Amino acid sequence: MKKLFVFLAVVIFFFIITYLTWPTEKHPSLTHDVHHGVVSQIYEQSSERGADAHEYPSSTAHLGDLDTLGVHALGKHFFIPKRQQDLLHYPCSNCHNEALESLKSKEQKLGQKAHWDIQLKHASSDVMTCTTCHSETNMDDLHSITNKKILFNNSFKVCAQCHQEEYKDWAGGAHGKRIGGWTKPIVKKTCVNCHNPHRPAFEKRLPARYNTKMIEQRKQ
Ligand code: HEC
Ligand code: HEC
Ligand code: HEC
Ligand code: HEC
Repeated sequence: MKKLFVFLAVVIFFFIITYLTWPTEKHPSLTHDVHHGVVSQIYEQSSERGADAHEYPSSTAHLGDLDTLGVHALGKHFFIPKRQQDLLHYPCSNCHNEALESLKSKEQKLGQKAHWDIQLKHASSDVMTCTTCHSETNMDDLHSITNKKILFNNSFKVCAQCHQEEYKDWAGGAHGKRIGGWTKPIVKKTCVNCHNPHRPAFEKRLPARYNTKMIEQRKQ
């Protein structure tokens, strides 16, 4: 009889312990020890940063005060940095308030080029001159080969005319670089963030080499 009593007591004790420690279902963002996968970890981390536990993580936090512009390219929608406000010589019409030819003839007398720092090293001069991209009649905007206005902020449209493959790859995400994070909103560098339109090829660089001098210096 005593043995049965002890047995029952042990059974009841374990029953209570099991009941108290049985895991109940909690929202992953509210626990710190449950990692059911990448997505729940992200929710968890964003709630730790003070964001709403159910809010989808956003890449805007990484963009700072970058001024962006929404674009539609080949069925994709994303954002690119604005450029126009960063141009040193904008508005161009401060000086380009008359025909280019007459500006040029005046300048010839002075014997100095206004844009001496810009030398075109892109396509051959048969294919391209300054006015392939810049408009003689409206310097404040770019223009297409068929003379349609293109804003400086949308300069990728100028490039896309001749570089369709890179343009498709860029719109699809294979060429170029995302800014911010992998999350939405999608913000990408635009062509001129990486390529200088006037000399778009990257300079050749020597490979980094094993620096024997440096190793000797470190030993000292
Ligand atoms: C401070 C005055 C000034 C400003 C601002 C200015 N330009 Fe000019 N630009 C000139 C003059 C003067 C010429 C013509 C003489 C020359 O080429 O030296 C010229 C020539 C040009 C040419 C033709 C060059 C050639 O060799 O055929 C282009 C293209 C051009 N400018 C683009 C621009 C653009 C784009 C802007 C604005 C982002 C701009 N300019 C702003 C003064 C200016
Ligand atoms: C392939 C197209 C293309 C050609 C050709 C071209 N440009 Fe440009 N140019 C651009 C684009 C695009 C920008 C804006 C770049 C940016 O957003 O940083 C620009 C910017 C400029 C600016 C403004 C720079 C600043 O920071 O204020 C000047 C001035 C200019 N171009 C002059 C010229 C002159 C002069 C020539 C000919 C020698 C020329 N461009 C040829 C595409 C072109
Ligand atoms: C009117 C046509 C045309 C436009 C517009 C144009 N390009 Fe080009 N681009 C060419 C040609 C032609 C070449 C030379 C191709 C070659 O050498 O194989 C070239 C070469 C290049 C190269 C490769 C250079 C190298 O040798 O690796 C880059 C990068 C480039 N362009 C970027 C741009 C960007 C960025 C823009 C827009 C700002 C632009 N292009 C606008 C025609 C154009
Ligand atoms: C994040 C930077 C970045 C952006 C944005 C970017 N490119 Fe490039 N691009 C590169 C690099 C890096 C290369 C390889 C250069 C090399 O091999 O020397 C390249 C190569 C190219 C070439 C030469 C291709 C070849 O086979 O040699 C062209 C043309 C070109 N880019 C056009 C564009 C155009 C047009 C856009 C916009 C629609 C663009 N790029 C956007 C970085 C960029």
